[in-house]
Amino acid sequence: DIMELCNELGALYIDTVNEPWLGFYFDASKGPEARSNYALREATLAAKNARAPGSTTAVSCCGANPGMVSFFAKQALLNVAADLQLNAPEPKTKAEWADLMRQCGVKGIHIAERDTQRSKKPKEPDVFVNTWSVEGFLSEGVQPSELGWGTHEKWMPENAHTHQTGCGAAIYLMQPGADTRVRTWCPTRGPQYGFLVTHNESISISDYFTVRDASGKAVYRPTCHYAYHPADDAVLSLHELFGRAAKMQEKHHILDENEIVDGIDELGVLLYGHGKNAYWFGSQLSIEETRELAPYQNATGLQVTSAVLGGMVWALEHPKEGIVEADEMDFHRLLEIQGPYLGPVKGYYTDWTPLEGRPGLFPEDIDTSDPWQFKNVLVR
Ligand SMILES: NC(=O)c1ccc[n+]([C@@H]2O[C@H](COP(=O)([O-])OP(=O)(O)OC[C@H]3O[C@@H](n4cnc5c(N)ncnc54)[C@H](O)[C@@H]3O)[C@@H](O)[C@H]2O)c1
Repeated sequence: DIMELCNELGALYIDTVNEPWLGFYFDASKGPEARSNYALREATLAAKNARAPGSTTAVSCCGANPGMVSFFAKQALLNVAADLQLNAPEPKTKAEWADLMRQCGVKGIHIAERDTQRSKKPKEPDVFVNTWSVEGFLSEGVQPSELGWGTHEKWMPENAHTHQTGCGAAIYLMQPGADTRVRTWCPTRGPQYGFLVTHNESISISDYFTVRDASGKAVYRPTCHYAYHPADDAVLSLHELFGRAAKMQEKHHILDENEIVDGIDELGVLLYGHGKNAYWFGSQLSIEETRELAPYQNATGLQVTSAVLGGMVWALEHPKEGIVEADEMDFHRLLEIQGPYLGPVKGYYTDWTPLEGRPGLFPEDIDTSDPWQFKNVLVR
C-alpha cells in the first residue's frame, strides 16, 4: 500500500482519487458494492484509524473534485448562513460544521459542474474525447452510481442499496453512474442534466456534515452527489459508449489547450433546500484565462492541479496529521493558495428547483410537497 510505504519512509503523500490497483473497476467477478467508492473510502478510513497519532501526513483525494469542492462547501455554507442572518460564529470542529449545515436547513449539495470547453474539430466516431483523463472518467463512469443519502429523503429508487457496515452515509444504484442522469443547475447555462457519477466527495461530504444523537443515530445528513455535464464531446462519447452496451472506444483523446475554441469549466457546489432555496458557489475558469496562467493546460486541468498544489503546501505545513480527507483541512488556507488559479470564484442564488416547468406535456410521478426530493432530481 503506497500510503503506508510513504508513512514508513516519512514521505508526505497526496492523491486526487482513491485509485485501486489495475483491474478493480472492470472486474465483473466483484459485485457492485465491492466496486463502489464507499468500499474504497471505508478501506482508507480503516487505515486512517489504524495509524498511531502523529504519523506522516497523507492527503486522500485532493484534486478539484474530490478535493476543492469540499473547501467550496464550507465557504458556501458560511455565505448562506450570513445571508440567512444566523449570526453563527465560524465552526471549529466537524460537529459544529455539521450543526451549522443543519441550522441552515440545507437538504443537499450537488457538485454541479458544466464544462463548456469546445473542440475546434468535431468528434470522430469510436474516439472517447474528454478534457481530462479518459481512463479515469471511464473507470468511475462504470462504477455503480452512488450518492451521500440525506435524512430528508422520503423515496428511494427501487434498485438502490444501502450498506450494512461502515459510516452508512451513502447508497448505491444498480446502474453505471455515467448512464444515470440528474437535474441540476449551474450559473452560466442554468438548468441542465448532469451525470450522477460516483465520487469520493459525495460520501465524504455527507459523512462530514452528519449530526448524530447520543446513541450514534444520524439525525441530520445532507444528500450529496455529483451532477456533471462534461464537455459536449464527452457527452457524445458517453452516448456512443452506452449505445453499444458499454463497449469502450478504441481511441482515447484528451483535448489539448490548442484544440479548444472557447469555454469554461464551471465547477461548484449547489447548496439546496434552505431558506433561500439554492446557492451555487464555485470556480468559473475559462480556457483563455488558463492559457495566460499556465501555458499548455486546459481549464479542467488547472482546477485540479491548483488543488494538488494547495494540498502539498498544506501537507508541508502540517506534516504529522496522518491520513486526512479534504473536508478536514483548513479550507481558508487551501483557497488562499488556489485562488489565483481559479478564475472568478463567485456565488449565485437561484429560484430554480428540479420541479420547474414540470409536469410538462405528460403526467409525471413527482413529489410536489418538497421540490428537493431525490425523486424529483433523478431522471427516471
Ligand atoms: N480529483 C479530481 O478533481 C481529478 C480530476 C481529474 C483527474 N483525476 C484523477 O487523476 C488521475 C490522473 O488524471 P489525468 O487527467 O492527469 O490523466 P492522464 O490520462 O492525462 O494521465 C495519466 C498518466 O498516468 C500514466 N500511467 C498510467 N498507468 C501508469 C502506471 N501503471 N505507472 C505509471 N504511470 C502510469 C499515463 O501514461 C498518463 O501519463 C486519474 O486517476 C484521474 O481520475 C482527479
